[in-house]
Amino acid sequence: MSGAAPRQRLLQALNINGMVLPNRVVVPAMVTRLSGEDGLVNEDIIARYVRYAAGQVGLIVVEATAVHGAKSGPLLRLSDDAFIPGHRELTRRVHDTSPSKVVPQIIHFMKVARSGWRQTIETLEGEDIDGIVHDFGLAALRAREAGYDGVELHAAHAYTLASFLSRRNRRKDRYGGHTLEGRLALFGDVLAEVRSRVGNDFPVGVRFLAEEAIKGGYALPEAQQIALRMAQLGADYISLSVGGKFEDAEQRPGQPLCPYTGYSGDRCMPGDWYPALPHAHLAAAIKAYLNERGHGTPVISAGKITAPGEAEALLHDGQADLIGMARQLLADPDWTLKVMQGREDEIIRCVYCNVCKDLDERFREVTCFLWPKNHLQAPEGQAGDTAPHWPDTGAALAGTGHDGRVKLTWSPAKSPDGAVAGYDIYRADEHGEVRCVEAVKGCRYVDRLALSGQQYRYFVRAFDHDGRPSPASETIAITMAMTEHGAK
Ligand SMILES: Cc1cc2nc3c(=O)[nH]c(=O)nc-3n(C[C@H](O)[C@H](O)[C@H](O)COP(=O)(O)O)c2cc1C
Repeated sequence: MSGAAPRQRLLQALNINGMVLPNRVVVPAMVTRLSGEDGLVNEDIIARYVRYAAGQVGLIVVEATAVHGAKSGPLLRLSDDAFIPGHRELTRRVHDTSPSKVVPQIIHFMKVARSGWRQTIETLEGEDIDGIVHDFGLAALRAREAGYDGVELHAAHAYTLASFLSRRNRRKDRYGGHTLEGRLALFGDVLAEVRSRVGNDFPVGVRFLAEEAIKGGYALPEAQQIALRMAQLGADYISLSVGGKFEDAEQRPGQPLCPYTGYSGDRCMPGDWYPALPHAHLAAAIKAYLNERGHGTPVISAGKITAPGEAEALLHDGQADLIGMARQLLADPDWTLKVMQGREDEIIRCVYCNVCKDLDERFREVTCFLWPKNHLQAPEGQAGDTAPHWPDTGAALAGTGHDGRVKLTWSPAKSPDGAVAGYDIYRADEHGEVRCVEAVKGCRYVDRLALSGQQYRYFVRAFDHDGRPSPASETIAITMAMTEHGAK
């Protein structure tokens, strides 16, 4: 037992229009690239979502799933009745595993080509728009028939519904960008159609952007109004994201444009150089705006949430109703279970290296850098007390610091079953608290973020594939020589 404080808010149930979540932890949609281009649910996909259920996650949002048949890379689909049986098997297996609830995120996207060309919403005719509305309605109905507990409309990032909501919408008609009402019109039509298909007793959530994070894109004040309209229209929950747009994407030769390659992509999946919780204030401001106007629509906050204490505080302080963790739960699907069992010090912390993001961009199967090599799923927890330990001679942590780099080396840790998975590197500066700055697989690490003239302290802990940590190594202090640039 880690002696962690009880996480009362995190472990509290929530009823969303009849869908009772056993706790407040959510896996937001995360493309796995485990399906083929056929769009069918397969065993690998089922294993990925059952793994989250085994870890006792409250709500699992299945990755973006197409409502239409347009060509794309590997992507799940609900664009035809033929896809229902696979999804039915997925929901059955998740429900047989734990009280976790499961909804698919349904998406419409525009065409992109390897030449760099992309279709934009300004070219859509009235009948195309009618088709989009119709396709969303039928896909939601199929989700209900497949045994899902609800459905989430994808109105975030670079996809069709988000492009209509965008401040960069240049249409001139009823769906036009000249007014916020115009930008909201398609979402309104889609939600009405979905409701008419699935009824009022089936939870329908929405994911949209709290900030577009592109030049000329909308920011918090408009996001608050968009959220208000969604709540007024009866969205059952609101899940927030940031960025992920085509407008600032990098053009890579021979590749279709990928919306996560520019600055807005960095904001969407903030890497290790961003602080923890970079988006929590946006979700908090949107939740406050809704609550002040009499809407209790649950709000999901996401973005570099890792520590149970921080997640609990967001709920306790009324900054969020639900905690979304994409990369953290990929790294350790047992996060919730470990919190429930008071084993928080065994959580394998995501280090936000974004290997998963790179794999997604290259249409490769999305896995986690911290898993054992060649594993397609997070390893299963093992029974027994086999935490790694240092050899009798100790960790022998040693380091040197010059030229803006601290180089650390240490001895390999041992584990009774030989399963040391990696090492967490902890660093403290002269004034700050100790922070885990990186996880590595080998016995060396180079810290390139050291300032001359400063003293840093380091220690290392080994962990196995279940996240069981070794004792900390000895702590060493490294003083960086003062250079010309560091002179006061
Ligand atoms: C590999 C990968 C795939 C993703 N796929 C989706 C997706 O299908 N739909 C979506 O709304 N967000 C998607 N996201 C964004 C995440 O849901 C989440 O908003 C983002 O990673 C920030 O949260 P985190 O810091 O907890 O990872 C994806 C992120 C990653 C890393």
